[in-house]
Amino acid sequence: MITVTMQLRSREQQLGCALALRFLALVPWGIPRARALDNGLAMTPTMGWLHWERFMCNLDCQEEPDFCISEQLFMQMAELMVSDGWKDAGYEYLCIDDCWMAPQRDSKGRLQADPQRFPGGIRRLANYVHSKGLKLGIYADVGNKTCAGFPGSFGYYDIDAQTFADWGVDLLKFDGCYCDSLEHLAYGYKRMSFALNQTGRSIVYSCEWPLYMWPLQKPNYTEIRQYCNHWRNFADVYDSWQSVKSILDWTSSNQESIVDAAGPGGWNDPDMLVIGNFGLSWNQQVTQMALWAIMAAPLLMSNDLRHISPQAKALLQDKDVIAINQDPLGKQGYRLRKGNNFEVWERPLSDLAWAVGILNRQEIGGPRSFTISIASLGRGVACNPACLITQLLPVKRELGFYEWTSRLKTQINPTGTVLLRLEETNQDASKSLL
Ligand SMILES: *[C@@H]1O[C@H](CO)[C@@H](O)[C@H](O)[C@H]1NC(C)=O
Ligand SMILES: *[C@@H]1O[C@H](CO)[C@@H](O)[C@H](O)[C@H]1NC(C)=O
Ligand SMILES: *[C@@H]1O[C@H](CO)[C@@H](O)[C@H](O)[C@H]1NC(C)=O
Repeated sequence: MITVTMQLRSREQQLGCALALRFLALVPWGIPRARALDNGLAMTPTMGWLHWERFMCNLDCQEEPDFCISEQLFMQMAELMVSDGWKDAGYEYLCIDDCWMAPQRDSKGRLQADPQRFPGGIRRLANYVHSKGLKLGIYADVGNKTCAGFPGSFGYYDIDAQTFADWGVDLLKFDGCYCDSLEHLAYGYKRMSFALNQTGRSIVYSCEWPLYMWPLQKPNYTEIRQYCNHWRNFADVYDSWQSVKSILDWTSSNQESIVDAAGPGGWNDPDMLVIGNFGLSWNQQVTQMALWAIMAAPLLMSNDLRHISPQAKALLQDKDVIAINQDPLGKQGYRLRKGNNFEVWERPLSDLAWAVGILNRQEIGGPRSFTISIASLGRGVACNPACLITQLLPVKRELGFYEWTSRLKTQINPTGTVLLRLEETNQDASKSLL
């Protein structure tokens, strides 16, 4: 009898405490989210394919016709995006990176595609991509040259924006090489944002403004969000675990500056998914997919859709993980804590759900177990008074109901991540509190 009473009392106390925590969770984590670029685009992170990491600046269509930057490469990818389920999974933007241009502008000062590698020009390629129900992305640079040395847009912002709109382009990745001052950088990124708007065409605007600012000055994310739909902050991703780790480390060390800047219409861009290539083990690919979902990152794959393993394809097309990435609440996740070579990341989702990723950073030894106290997740409210937990990665498994006071034990492979989804079980009660 006494035991029962005590249990009841402690549950009441827990509830009181839980209510207080629930209230706390309504207070924004940091600065309030600023106004986004008003073009109605990227209300969830952009999904698609981008050629850079896998194909870089391969210009040699004589020796390597299947791997050079040519209209044939993009037409093949467009076909596969439709026939192999990528489009249905949400991957919509087929994006060209650097090295598509001819070395000179035309007689009217317009950019032109390399006539050998893109004999039909970008307009015809865009028509083809649109006929498949996809959208076309292109690349240019705010400075005097692109990173690979092709013509830059400095002094040509209006002409280039209009050219892209005339061609039917749907996304612009705007790089920041060959720009000689912070003033020119800020001016150029803003000016191009305005120029794109003035064309009247809906064009997603992907910036690298903060990446080029960081070495000189801390970026003002409130301002960047007003001009760009997503923005790169850190170095290019490589096909390696070292690179993926460095991106995660940079993101978590700067999360107080960047996480609150993300939201519908504007996102932090930790760069491409390299899943399906050569450098990441299976567990590392799982980690990239899980954490890019938690970071609300644009999902731009850079791989060869003609040669990709069924396992990598299933991971990239995982509906449950994509649903976390595309969650309509649009709040970016963050690293909750690290210690003993584990990292716990979490992300608030719509309908009071949460995503939780637990990463094992220890690269010696086998799988290690990690026990989480449920009450420590989701600012104390994720699982209050109980929740249904589903493991999504590395394999999907219903883990069942957990109470606020309970603990969850997981096993995580070296360099791997366990991704969980926590669903409130008494949503109505929780909503009535809001
Ligand atoms: C241009 O900006 C205005 C005002 O911010 C906005 O209402 C409009 O939708 C934008 N147009 C395009 C094409 O982005
Ligand atoms: C482009 O080059 C010109 C001539 O050298 C220079 O005056 C200008 O500042 C450069 N622009 C940028 C954005 O670097
Ligand atoms: C950042 O930019 C916003 C919007 O332009 C401005 O209101 C704010 O004062 C800027 N913050 C700083 C620290 O310069």
